[in-house]
Amino acid sequence: MKESLYNIPSLKEAKKRTRNPVTIRRESLKISARLKEFAHDKKYFIRTYGCQANVVDSETMAGILDEIGFVSSDDPNTSDVVILNTCAVRENAEDKVFGEVGSLKRLYNNNKDVVIALCGCMAQEPHVVEKIRLKYPQVNLIFGTHNIASLPILLDETIFDKRRVIDVPSCEGEVIENLPLSRSEKYKAFVNIMYGCDKFCTYCIVPYTRGKQRSRKKEDILKEVLDLKEKGYKEVTLLGQNVNAYGKDLNENETFASLLEEVAKTNIERIRFTTSHPWDFSDEMIHVIASYKNIMPYIHLPMQSGSNSILQKMGRRYTIESYLELVKKLKKEVKDLALSTDIIVGFPNESEEDFLDTLKAVKECEFDSAFTFIYSPRVGTPAAEIEDSISKETKSRRFNELVKTLEESISKKANSYIGGTYKVLVDTISKKDTSMLSGYTETNKLVNFKGDSSLIGKIVLVKIIASHTYSLIGEIVDE
Ligand code: SAH
Ligand code: SF4
Ligand code: F3S
Repeated sequence: MKESLYNIPSLKEAKKRTRNPVTIRRESLKISARLKEFAHDKKYFIRTYGCQANVVDSETMAGILDEIGFVSSDDPNTSDVVILNTCAVRENAEDKVFGEVGSLKRLYNNNKDVVIALCGCMAQEPHVVEKIRLKYPQVNLIFGTHNIASLPILLDETIFDKRRVIDVPSCEGEVIENLPLSRSEKYKAFVNIMYGCDKFCTYCIVPYTRGKQRSRKKEDILKEVLDLKEKGYKEVTLLGQNVNAYGKDLNENETFASLLEEVAKTNIERIRFTTSHPWDFSDEMIHVIASYKNIMPYIHLPMQSGSNSILQKMGRRYTIESYLELVKKLKKEVKDLALSTDIIVGFPNESEEDFLDTLKAVKECEFDSAFTFIYSPRVGTPAAEIEDSISKETKSRRFNELVKTLEESISKKANSYIGGTYKVLVDTISKKDTSMLSGYTETNKLVNFKGDSSLIGKIVLVKIIASHTYSLIGEIVDE
């Protein structure tokens, strides 16, 4: 197949950080007439892996494809454009993608005109692009996290020139406004407040795949939130790899605390935010969270490890003592606070003592929920260079022990809801039992209860009658 090679990703380029100001591009899409004509009876399918940043990117791509004239489909096998929006954060995330790429071979063999595109964080990794080029001819379009806005041009070339198109720039990135967005949910929305990350934790690939930290302008964020509120959205989640550092790159004296306060003043019913790096958590932020009823009392605060030596090797820039101090302060200041975290076990050469420090810290924090991972070496990151003496078996054993310890506090917390009545934003009909609805409390606990589907999108009062570790069972109460 003929190939158009515009940009191949480079980790060396991706690592560079300059002081150059960030360009804000107010985009208007350029769509060729022939692409519009082509699209009118054609379908697209997008599979999204990874974090909420990818969810918004997929919603943006859906917005672009809708504007071109394609129709969304939930079946890749009958679609004309199939996009895999990938995640590179751990090896198992990547394995899933390669599995799916493999299974798309049949679709391609049956229909050589299909566009099979790979984008997202894996596309930013040079070794992945090389592997796809050599071994997976069914993928005929590869683009990255920085050039989603070019989708109409990239599709035009792939479709009409019958070429395999590869365009993955590795750059610091821009802020692109005004792209269309077809949201996947009607009552809850993710709102990017910043892109990229400059923290370079030594295990993490994200700063290489997403570019430097770029905050959106406050006016643009507020406009988006107000627009969502007007459309009937009940909840926004403000997104960034490290929301606490919002504004530090803007030279405008902007802080996350002041942004959060202004979002709260829009009076949208529920505000969440993620992720908060413990390092930049200011007292001002705590004060704002505690002062506004529509800022949900739920904070995701990744701890990663309870050992100072590991935290230092991870480049996390805080000690476990300061983390615990912050947790204490948050619990004291924010009424009924629920806390969740991320923890990695098996960082290179993590000793038994390091691991026991993590267990100890976990017990002390009494988390309401947690995401736990076994360390996965990422090509190009400093931690991947460390020779590791800890066996796979030891890592799995520690992982299981950690989950067990976490579940003790998670179950205990869940149990404490029994008998209480909570506000629940009704999300969907439950996947397991269609007579049940499911939704989330202000503290982000999943609740299942009997009810009519007309309640979807409303906030109802639910009395909790039973609890499982990861969800609650309740009954609607009349107000
Ligand atoms: N910006 C967020 C995290 C984004 S990645 C923060 O700093 O908190 C989400 C989580 O994936 C991380 O918190 C970490 O726990 C986990 N993670 C990242 N890289 C990993 C790796 N190489 N191996 C295992 N887990 C990893
Ligand atoms: Fe990765 Fe650390 Fe940035 Fe989070 S703060 S995205 S863990 S480098
Ligand atoms: Fe994955 Fe990229 Fe998000 S690596 S976690 S999709 S920023």
